[in-house]
Amino acid sequence: MDKKNRKAIIAGNWKMNKTATEAKALIGELIPAVKGAGCEVVICTPFTDLATAVALCKGTNIHVGAENVHFEDHGAFTGEISAAMLVDLGVEYVIVGHSERRQYFAETNETVNKRALAALNAGLKVIICVGESLEQREEGVTEELVRMQTKIALKDVTKEQMKNVVIAYEPIWAIGTGKTATSEQAEEVCGQIRKVIGEVYGADTAKATTVQYGGSMNAKNCDELLGKADVDGGLIGGASLKAPDFAVIVNAATKG
Ligand code: PGA
Repeated sequence: MDKKNRKAIIAGNWKMNKTATEAKALIGELIPAVKGAGCEVVICTPFTDLATAVALCKGTNIHVGAENVHFEDHGAFTGEISAAMLVDLGVEYVIVGHSERRQYFAETNETVNKRALAALNAGLKVIICVGESLEQREEGVTEELVRMQTKIALKDVTKEQMKNVVIAYEPIWAIGTGKTATSEQAEEVCGQIRKVIGEVYGADTAKATTVQYGGSMNAKNCDELLGKADVDGGLIGGASLKAPDFAVIVNAATKG
């Protein structure tokens, strides 16, 4: 019931893939493939592809996102990109706190929070990623960990700004491994995330917030995952680089 009232979002996370020339070809395939989507379709691309993506997706139902953003407005931060730079380019979404950023680029819950705030204050929509490692799951701390990641990421985010927040539950052990969480595991943790949001912002915000699952979601397993009551879409890595596969997932969300 509540699920129908929430926005289902299928977002591609291209990671460090596709030159601008290759992006042009992939988007050319994606536009007709997802044209009839009944869910929100987003592609998050490397910074170097954003201008191309924004230009090509203009007037289509595909929204464009970045994969990271710095928390300062401007200044001596060589190699970084600010929220204002993304907004000026016509970018609408940004992924914050992906586990690869946490793992390889020293991202912490606190910096995730700073990035989310900077992006939201600039008017961007954020996809905040949370999720446990295999070791943490085996130690039985998934719920505690995901609760903490979610709470800290949302520190100082207002109830009004929650309209622009998407949470993506991405178990690290399922990312790029071909090992998907079962639909029950995905549903359980997405439900726990919604519960935390309810504790902080109230039941209405919890009911309205899009919570995605990510981690080896593909054309074969998407129906089952997206059919779950608390799973409002997906953050798709590998399968977002193939237009036909991505379209199957988009259509599954449209049905779910
Ligand atoms: P995957 O990546 O679909 O390739 O597992 C998901 C993600 O990292 O967002």
